[in-house]
Amino acid sequence: MAIERGRLLSVLGMTSPVIQAPMAGFASLDMVAAVCEAGGLGNIGAAMHSVEDIERDIASVRSRTNRRFGINFFNHPAPLRDLDDEHAWRRRLQPYFDELQLDAQDIALPSRPAPGFGEEQCAAVERDCPGLVSFHFGLPDAAYVARLKHAGAVIMSSATTVAEAVWLEAHGCDVVIAQGLEAGGHRGHFLPGSENRQRGTFTLVPQIVDATRLPVVAAGGIGDIRSVNAALALGAEAVQVGTAFLSCAEASLRPGYLKALQRSSGEETVLTSAFSGRPARALSNRFTQELGMHEDEVLSFPLGMKFIAPLIRAAAQSHASDLAPVWAGQGIRPNGALTAFQLVGRLTPIDTV
Ligand SMILES: Cc1cc2nc3c(=O)[nH]c(=O)nc-3n(C[C@H](O)[C@H](O)[C@H](O)COP(=O)(O)O)c2cc1C
Repeated sequence: MAIERGRLLSVLGMTSPVIQAPMAGFASLDMVAAVCEAGGLGNIGAAMHSVEDIERDIASVRSRTNRRFGINFFNHPAPLRDLDDEHAWRRRLQPYFDELQLDAQDIALPSRPAPGFGEEQCAAVERDCPGLVSFHFGLPDAAYVARLKHAGAVIMSSATTVAEAVWLEAHGCDVVIAQGLEAGGHRGHFLPGSENRQRGTFTLVPQIVDATRLPVVAAGGIGDIRSVNAALALGAEAVQVGTAFLSCAEASLRPGYLKALQRSSGEETVLTSAFSGRPARALSNRFTQELGMHEDEVLSFPLGMKFIAPLIRAAAQSHASDLAPVWAGQGIRPNGALTAFQLVGRLTPIDTV
């Protein structure tokens, strides 16, 4: 049953309009639970999870909080493997592997890559449904959406254009995230041609509010109470915040990531698909400067991620971040050393019920 506008917080049991963005690999379960305990909604980033990881993480968050929380998946299609492309991309990255004395022969690509969300993931969520299931890159097949709803899930997904929001509404989505161009991490766009229609959060939110009947969540560049209030004034019922949570004590960042964020201003972020195969916003560094966007050469998402895994491991050891991704949005601002619980408090308008 559709969620009526104005009822999103009560349906999800929230007393704050703050949703912690699912950040696969970066938002710890401590963070997810702390955000829920603060009255917001925490999200498990399960994009790279095995079925065992999904089950373990849901059980683990349940043991830390009685409040509702979310789980998030990427809905990318199964990528096609092409050996020529893989050799070419390996050759392109080899100078970096050589420079860091990395053995890149062990990059393991799945012989039959799977889509981001399928039967196994759906069945795992059905067994123990956390209440909110969100997707990046569209929605899975209607049968999966119906099964998740039947298990009790509210379904939410990102739209980067009005057309995507309208598509999500028509395909059974309950809540739409308006993901503006400022946002850190991967762009959620999924309709052909939408890459050219990307716009900022505060343009996109009211357009989606006007074009659909769904509750709207604003995402991108939101990290202080002014931007929360602005998003709510434009018709959003909640905000999904990623980058600002990266500076919290509970974030799982490799050494060097936080330092790179602290040194940076939002002016130094770029959109690039060179790291993963899909456009994502990260801090500008030597890798993004030397490879640029590289849309044509880089392998399909998420195979590109496999090729940079050795660079990420090396960055973790050396604390250097010039050849590995530091995903971040344009709204980087110093929030000081806060816990996730404290950040939710800072982002909650005084008059929220
Ligand atoms: C480090 C990082 C990782 C992210 N990982 C995910 C993810 O796993 N799933 C997802 O739906 N969105 C992911 N996002 C995007 C967020 O959902 C959201 O759109 C974005 O963080 C909002 O913009 P902000 O970073 O300016 O707050 C990620 C963002 C960041 C910064």
